[in-house]
Amino acid sequence: MARARTEWHCSQCGHAAPKWLGRCPECGEYGTFYEVTPSVPPVSAVAPRTPVALADVRVDATTRITTGIDELDRVLGGGIVRGSAVLLAGEPGIGKSTLLLQAASRLASTGLRVLYVCGEESAEQVRLRADRLGADGRVLLLPGADVASVVATAEAQAADVLVADSIQTLSDAGAPGLPGSVSQVRACAQMLVALAKSKGVAVIMVGHVTKEGAVAGPRVLEHVVDTVLSFEGDRDHAHRIVRATKNRFGSVSEVGVFEMTGSGLDGVTDPSGLALGQRAHDAPGTCVFPTVEGTRPMLVEVQALVTRTWLPAPRRHAVGIDLGRVHQMLAVLEGRAGVRFGEHDVYVSVVGGMRVSDPAVDLPLALALVSARESTALPGPFAAFGEIGLTGEIRGVPHGSVRAAECARVGVKALLVPDGKSPLTPDGVEVVRVSSLRSALAAAGLSGDR
Ligand code: TYD
Ligand code: MG
Repeated sequence: MARARTEWHCSQCGHAAPKWLGRCPECGEYGTFYEVTPSVPPVSAVAPRTPVALADVRVDATTRITTGIDELDRVLGGGIVRGSAVLLAGEPGIGKSTLLLQAASRLASTGLRVLYVCGEESAEQVRLRADRLGADGRVLLLPGADVASVVATAEAQAADVLVADSIQTLSDAGAPGLPGSVSQVRACAQMLVALAKSKGVAVIMVGHVTKEGAVAGPRVLEHVVDTVLSFEGDRDHAHRIVRATKNRFGSVSEVGVFEMTGSGLDGVTDPSGLALGQRAHDAPGTCVFPTVEGTRPMLVEVQALVTRTWLPAPRRHAVGIDLGRVHQMLAVLEGRAGVRFGEHDVYVSVVGGMRVSDPAVDLPLALALVSARESTALPGPFAAFGEIGLTGEIRGVPHGSVRAAECARVGVKALLVPDGKSPLTPDGVEVVRVSSLRSALAAAGLSGDR
């Protein structure tokens, strides 16, 4: 018969060890181990259960509550599903509380009962923000503390929607650790998810993520909740993106774009226009890039600055794009097109606070770099997309026609695209197909070989 073995768990990161340890080998915290005695009943004592045939499972049509904020509904897949749990994760100060208070207000104004648990701020602070946002006064505020009392209140108030801002400030008396520790966050989230499933409440939790990654714990929640939305962007920029990274009730290929204004977050219906509003067409070192976020095309501007270096090791700096990608592009440009950057500092930036991870950024990045290196502006409103391989070949990328159509919409005149069979005939745009880095530079009026 299997004997239940005592284990020791770290309350900070959940690391399990067979004996007590003073310092956790996983997260390095001191004095966080607590004893766990699993109660494992012998298999012979457990009664068998009856499984259900897949065909006999009853499916209720999912009922969605639309938040009235189009960009948010879009990422949720058409609204919040009743009885589901959503996690909104993001760095502090990015706008999570603002967005959720706006959503709570819209929901309350349609007559739904919305309970907003404010653990981060006092009710007065929330009221001040609500005044700024012009929020509906019917949102019910509950200063956060104990998760059991939150659940009891939500049931007693027959809440339709529960917002927990944030999950790190709630505590569960039955779990070890301080509020915000992994064991506490997990226990509290499980209670809220149970509330969602049993009472059909739509639960939205806020989770803080720090720059270093998952220290604050929301990562451990990703498998507990139905939907994970991540709030991205630079808090010093107005542009914010909400992206679904997991969605049991919708697609994960949608993004919502917001702009932080003096009176809350505004949905941005034309992100391309916002990014290209203040663009200087005739400056060297810039190229427009039609990226695709999910299924949505968006134009961004890739800028590069190349200056003579005074340092023994030249500086390379990148904002909004992976620095490794920039290093690789510099190597490919040198190895395959003869453009040398060895005596130059290189700065690259994606304008507007957007972070680009689309591999099709290679071609506009290469053009911006060479244009900056040669101090030659690309002709007219000029855009490009395509991945570049290590041999300098330009490779095809998905969503070519969507990208081309977006370029046409905002008045791009010339577009460099990878060679391929799919017909691209956007109105008023001259499309040039290129298959190698050298031919791309030539088509853009750059010489290479420097
Ligand atoms: P907040 O929503 O509190 O961020 P989070 O909950 O993610 O920590 O606020 C983000 C920032 O937005 C804050 O620094 C103040 C600013 N802000 C505005 O610019 N306009 C507004 O209308 C509001 C409410 C906040
Ligand atoms: Mg907040």
